[in-house]
Amino acid sequence: MPLAATELVAPDVYWVGAIDWSVRVFHGYHTDEGTSYNAYLLMDEEVTLIDTVKVQFGLELLERIKQITFLDSVKYVIMNHAENDHSGALPFLMTQLKNATIVTNKICMEHLILLYPSLKNYPFKIVNNSTQLQLKTHTIHFLQVPMLHWPDSMFSYCAETNILFSNDGFGQHIACSERFMDQIAQKDHIIHLMREYSANILGPFQVPLATALDNAKGLKIDMILTAHGISWRGDYLGMALNEYIQFSQNKQMQKKLTVVFQSMNGAVKKAAQIIMQGSQHPVQFCDLAITDLTKCALSAYESEFLAIGSPTYYGQTTPLVESAIHYLRGLSLIKGRKVMLFGSFCWSDKAVLSMKQMIENAGGTVVSEISFKMGVNEITQAALINDLKKFV
Ligand SMILES: [Fe+2]
Ligand SMILES: [Fe+2]
Repeated sequence: MPLAATELVAPDVYWVGAIDWSVRVFHGYHTDEGTSYNAYLLMDEEVTLIDTVKVQFGLELLERIKQITFLDSVKYVIMNHAENDHSGALPFLMTQLKNATIVTNKICMEHLILLYPSLKNYPFKIVNNSTQLQLKTHTIHFLQVPMLHWPDSMFSYCAETNILFSNDGFGQHIACSERFMDQIAQKDHIIHLMREYSANILGPFQVPLATALDNAKGLKIDMILTAHGISWRGDYLGMALNEYIQFSQNKQMQKKLTVVFQSMNGAVKKAAQIIMQGSQHPVQFCDLAITDLTKCALSAYESEFLAIGSPTYYGQTTPLVESAIHYLRGLSLIKGRKVMLFGSFCWSDKAVLSMKQMIENAGGTVVSEISFKMGVNEITQAALINDLKKFV
């Protein structure tokens, strides 16, 4: 496949990243539409690269830089985050960029050297919120955003162009040739992917997000250039900011019910269907036999109510249900939700009790517990319908 072209995305700023059309699993996150690793070259007399790409795209990045300038003219490589999707190519790049200094915060430097010991042989310039990187005609400021989503995460801001380089912030996992929201026909789909990203990456980090938004209030931002997927400018800047403001205030949750279950012989599935049909709220049906956890997380992110069902399987919940609770708990997507539990059993009634302990440990409020032996009879059906009224 030919390389995607470099592209001037703003005055003096070229996109030089990589589009990963093929990646489908990103540390467990199912990226059904691929992703991109967006890196940017800021053309100044002191040329500055902002972020890099995953290791297998290092040569692509290098070729794109060469289309624009001489490698020896690159003076700085700003690293906003040490995770390997943005740093994997850095050790190789530093062998090629003979005059470059790595610019990052102290924690990120430590992470980078732990990940790639060869980097200790290169010059670093350590920055923080009160440090500027003064280039010939551009000034770069730094905004530390710890736990968005690593301790080393930061944003970079160019004062002359009002561009925020937000790394993982405001991104989405999608491989596409468009760069900006205004070029996208299906705008709702990008918002959907942004929420999926928030659910699966930023779930536990609402407080750091609120702090970051507060700290960024004083900045005049005309463009947000992300490190994944689509970037934001013009009328659509507000759309991106609004998504994060809503999430930071927990307003992404709606009166919506996510039903998560696994069924072994059909009884739990039947109970799940009764719950779905009886709900007075919109429902998302997550049969774990066919629904991946990435989609469950997105639905839970938007839902005030969860219903979780499992048969008793050797004295406990099924592995898939336990795994789903484990995943949602890690992302803080059970915390603060009302939860209905339901489960079938043959001779040992344990699944609901086991789930109750896990849900309460995760900060959820159990509002209903319904166990039934073998199959769903009329009494169980009535109990399920009746307990749905607790979701108001
Ligand atoms: Fe990351
Ligand atoms: Fe990333």
